[in-house]
Parts: sequence; structure tokens; C-alpha cells
Amino acid sequence: MINVVPIPEKITYNGGIVARKSNVIRLIEKNSALGDEGYILRAEPESITLIAETQKGIFYAEQTLKQLMEGTVIQCMEIIDRPRFEYRGFMLDSARHMQSLDEIKKLIDAAALLKFNTMHWHLCDDQGFRIESKKFPLLNEKGSWRDGDNFGPIKSDKRYGGYYTQDEIREIVKYCKDRFIEIVPEIDLPGHTTALISSYPELSCTKNQIPVEKRQGIFEDVLCIGDENTLPFVYELLDEIIPLFPYERFHIGGDEVKYNRWENCPKCSAKKQELGFENFAQLQWHFTKQVIEHLEKHGKKATVWNESLAGGKLTDEATVQMWLDPKKHSVRHANRGGKVITSDFYHYYCDYPYHMTPLRKTYRFNPVLKGIAPVMKKHVIGVEAPIWTEYICDFDKLCYMFFPRIAAVAEVGWSKEENLNSTEFEKRFRKITPLLKSIGINPAKPEEWNPTPIQRLTGTVKFFSSRISVDIIKSSLNNGKK
Ligand code: ACM
Ligand code: ZN
Repeated sequence: MINVVPIPEKITYNGGIVARKSNVIRLIEKNSALGDEGYILRAEPESITLIAETQKGIFYAEQTLKQLMEGTVIQCMEIIDRPRFEYRGFMLDSARHMQSLDEIKKLIDAAALLKFNTMHWHLCDDQGFRIESKKFPLLNEKGSWRDGDNFGPIKSDKRYGGYYTQDEIREIVKYCKDRFIEIVPEIDLPGHTTALISSYPELSCTKNQIPVEKRQGIFEDVLCIGDENTLPFVYELLDEIIPLFPYERFHIGGDEVKYNRWENCPKCSAKKQELGFENFAQLQWHFTKQVIEHLEKHGKKATVWNESLAGGKLTDEATVQMWLDPKKHSVRHANRGGKVITSDFYHYYCDYPYHMTPLRKTYRFNPVLKGIAPVMKKHVIGVEAPIWTEYICDFDKLCYMFFPRIAAVAEVGWSKEENLNSTEFEKRFRKITPLLKSIGINPAKPEEWNPTPIQRLTGTVKFFSSRISVDIIKSSLNNGKK
């Protein structure tokens, strides 16, 4: 069995083994069948030849070779390989808990090994703003710091915070670029903005000074859409951040926006009326459309979480990231010709315990969502494995939660559907584990990947019982009311 993750498209064994000291030859050749990420790896008795149309293809051939070299011998063979999906991402939440640059680089190395091509970097949320802003210094003086942690079982009275300087962000961008990984930065708008509002209270409906959040959850202070100064602020902030990330995609969030502040805000209510809207989801949609248009002026294409579609359609140029979408907005977006990335909460969220989301469950999920017409399936451009860090304060825990589930998402994103096999995947993952460990990544142990049904039940109950307090339940019930 070949010890490669993701499993390559086609492997032909030619008999014999490759001499340990073989030359590696790299050839860039026109071969339209390979596309810009595909490659051929020819392992012969005295040489190994990597062929691709692009440097990126050669880089992926090298990742395969690195894994093959972990085996005791390399068989003589020809591999022809290319990805199933154009978008293969992982999401890192550095807002709730930050990671050091060295840790992020380790993660990027592991992601490159698994042929991911995108890192979605969640850089601001209620619990912290993590990008250096020279235009809006209070975002760092106030918004990057919180007064401790109160995330369910994770409690601390110690002030927590920090941010990545613009130079550090450029360093990570360069590190990714050298590994053919694009960064999609996320500035989550108009909700999940407590850190922004605590820095600049004039951005909210109440204008009250509020602290940066130290609890997990969904909070009611969101940007005031009715205030004429909000959009200019957002544009100016984006104008500062956009040049740090030299890519086309830019994520503007849009998830979990509570509307009760807007309902009680004279400016937001007047705006809704002026625009002839029936509900506040439309007001959010209107705001999102304006931000998308602003990004377009910079040559950027927006990605949004699926809730952004609740108030209306968005341009086909916008990519919708599906995570929890009972009303199937993402499916309709794909059926209209819009792009969709699948990050299904129940299968791809790697911050939930293996009891709730066993490895096999992640692996076996079909990212091409039910309800998409056969001719529109191509609009699902890929997959993304998110990890949120309310409950993940250190890198070892992050690696434990992410690996091997992130590798399962990598394989589903890269490999042909007919080559997917979860048992074989698990065996191959064990073989590449030493390589991950050499990078500094310690995955969960095999006995933890797929708990039994009874373990799943008890583990899931235990996880939620230590995280959901009566206070949180009460406050979310109140917030839902007018
Ligand atoms: C999300 O998990 N709130 C996108
Ligand atoms: Zn308002």
C-alpha cells in the first residue's frame, strides 16, 4: 500500500525498487491533462522524475515524494495525479487564542504536505482584533486585549491579547507563498464585532463603551448599519488591510448576526424603512453587498458565510462558505451559478471532540451538497476544515483536534471520489504520522479517532455540559426577543 495522503489519482507499479541514491529530475512540460496543480511522478530503478506544467505541480510532486521516502523502499511506479477540487482550505482562528508565528508555520508546513492550497485566517472576532492597524490604533490598544478568559471550562483572570504586526503578517504571507498556499483573511462583519466596537463605540447602535468579550457565544452588539459613519470606517479599515494580502479572495464573514440592537435603533430602523425592506436580514444583505462592491474596486472577490444570503441573492462572483445552512441558501447559490465552499459544521468543524465528529464521519461526508443540480455541482469549488479556538489555548491541543481530521478533508478535497476509502486512509495516515511529528505536529492517537457509540454519547454530553451554562442559555433566549 502506498504511504501517501491524499491518495493519488492513478498509480501504476512497474516492478522493482528505486535505488536509495537516485537522482531526482524536475521537468516543467506542457501537458494540459495535468492542469496547474497536477503532476507525474516516475520512479525508476536509477532515477525519479517529477513532471508538471507549473512550479506548483512540481511542488505537489515533491510532497508526494517526501511521503514516499518515509517508507523503507520506493517501488518503481508511475503516479499521475491532480486535484478533484480547486479550493482546499483550512481555517485557523487566531482571534480567540493566538498562535505564535513558529506554530503557524508548522501548521502551514503540514498543510502543504497534504496539498492544501488555502489558509483562511480568522483574525478578528468578539474576543480580539489581531491585525496591527496604523490607521485605527485603538483596535490594538483596546480591541486586541481582553480581561481574561471565560470560555466554559477555560477560565482565567489574566489579561489576554496581542496582535500580529503588519511585518509578521507579511512574513506569514511569504511563508505561505513559498508553499503555494494562499491566505484568505477574514474580517467578520457586521456581527462578531465586539472587539471593534469596544475600540470605537461609535460603530454600534447604542454607542456604549463595552469590553472585549471573554466569553464564548453570539453577542448582540454589532455594527450599526443605519449610522452614516459605519461604512466609511469599514472601507477605510479594509483599505488598510487589503494590501497585506496579495490574493483575490477576501472573507467578510456575515455569520451569526443578532438583529435586536438594529430593531431598537432609530437609525437602523429608519434605514430599513427607507430601503423598503421587510426584515433585518435584508439590511444585513444590503450592507454585505456594499462591502462586496468595495472589495471589487480593489480587484477582490468576497467570500461570506452562508447567513449572508438570508436577506437576498448575492453576485455569482461571491463565494459562499457553507457551515450550518438548514435553509439551504448555499445550495440555491450554487444552483444559480455561484461558488460554494463546504465546511459543514457536523463533519468538518475540527474544534468539536472526536466523540461528536469521529474521523470516519468527517472522511465519509460528501461535500457536494444534496439539492445541487447535476450540471451545477461544479460550483462547489472545494472544502475547508475550520478550527475555532475558544477552547483551544495551546498548539498541542490544536494539533490533536486538527490531525487527522484535517488530513481527511485534504484527501476528500484532492482525491478522486472513487479512490476514497476510510480504512485505507487511516492506514496511510499512520504511515505519514512520523513525518508530521518531525514537523512538530502531534496528531490524536488512532484509538481516539473513532469512538464507539456509547463513548460518543457520553463524550458529547460531557463536552457540552461543561460548556453551556444556564447564563448562556438565558442570555441567548433573551437576545432572541424584541
Ligand atoms: C461560524 O462557525 N460561526 C461560521
Ligand atoms: Zn443602529
